[in-house]
Amino acid sequence: MKFTTKAIHVGQGADPTTGATIVPIYQTSTYTQERVGEHKGYDYSRTINPTRVALEKQLASLEGAEYGSAFASGMAATAAVLNLLSAGDHAVVTDDLYGGTYRLFTRVLARYGLEFTYVDMRDLDAVRAAIKPNTKLFWIETPTNPLLNLVDIRGVVAMRRPGQVVVVDNTFATPYFQQPLALGADVVVHSTTKYIGGHSDVVGGVAITNNSEIFDVIKFHQNAVGGVPGPHDAWLTMRGAKTLALRMREHARNAHAVAEFLESHDDVARVYYPGLDSHPQHALAARQMSGFGGMVSFVLEGPQERALDFAHRLKYFSLAESLGGVESLICHPARMTHGSIPKEDRERRGVTDGLLRLSVGIEDEDDLIDDLTQALAATPLETARA
Ligand SMILES: Cc1ncc(COP(=O)(O)O)c(C=O)c1O
Repeated sequence: MKFTTKAIHVGQGADPTTGATIVPIYQTSTYTQERVGEHKGYDYSRTINPTRVALEKQLASLEGAEYGSAFASGMAATAAVLNLLSAGDHAVVTDDLYGGTYRLFTRVLARYGLEFTYVDMRDLDAVRAAIKPNTKLFWIETPTNPLLNLVDIRGVVAMRRPGQVVVVDNTFATPYFQQPLALGADVVVHSTTKYIGGHSDVVGGVAITNNSEIFDVIKFHQNAVGGVPGPHDAWLTMRGAKTLALRMREHARNAHAVAEFLESHDDVARVYYPGLDSHPQHALAARQMSGFGGMVSFVLEGPQERALDFAHRLKYFSLAESLGGVESLICHPARMTHGSIPKEDRERRGVTDGLLRLSVGIEDEDDLIDDLTQALAATPLETARA
């Protein structure tokens, strides 16, 4: 089966009880047993729920994998994967990563005795230098949020020794454009809140692997800690995922057009989009990904106020956190998504006060470019500097 067929058919068989073509929302916490211990494979919905199982099968198949575990959020999925480590273990982590992941690692898991080293993973020598005798995990985000830097997944996989695992947060690329397990990674994590759900109406996460031992650990954590999605959320995510391929093609087409438009503008200082020839890792992107995604970040010339004023003037790009929905969004990472990272750390990583991040939606390309044009015209550089 090819990608689009899997998205629509895997885990999506007709309901065995009624023949309902669409997997029902099994809004139940428990299941009636014939006799003690005799049941149809379902006993309690924290442990297992048919709607969630359908979602887990569908999403695992999209990453070319055997096993998926769905969670109530991307962060819950991340926390479950980190359960592969024990106190005293060390992880090497992409330094330009989602602020919430950084917060979980530094402010929650570090207190439990896990150790993290943040490195610029564009530099494989730096990754190698960060490995310690107790290193058990590599945490890769690629493309990164919000600077759209790339990490060479195969390059990191080549450093992995027995007992170590390579995890990729594939939220930005989606399985449609990047297949980390096929590149040798052990686990893929998604915030399904983003492109997989695709309509900004549900929060969720998933951890996917082909390794049954890793799956057992994650599954154990899913049941023991209980950060599971309710059946309605699982169902919404599953419905969204059916159209992932179609949406991603449109997101990428629009994002490319927007990135080229911004790059052609004199008073845009810098555009970050892996699909542009000017992106320093464009060649790696073309090798590792089959498309360049829907996220574009850029820096406007002039003071921070100009960037903020510009963002407020857009009509179709809502000022909002999150990404990956059909509608376009704009955010100011320093004050919004990355506010939990100390200013000094943030600026060292390039998340400056003038940086803006676009989640380019699937509206008409001309309307989006007209909107950017009017907002640029309304915030001239000369006025901002005056
Ligand atoms: C790359 C990335 N990973 C993980 C997360 C966390 O996911 P969630 O918000 O669903 O918990 C996000 C959320 O913004 C994200 O952008």
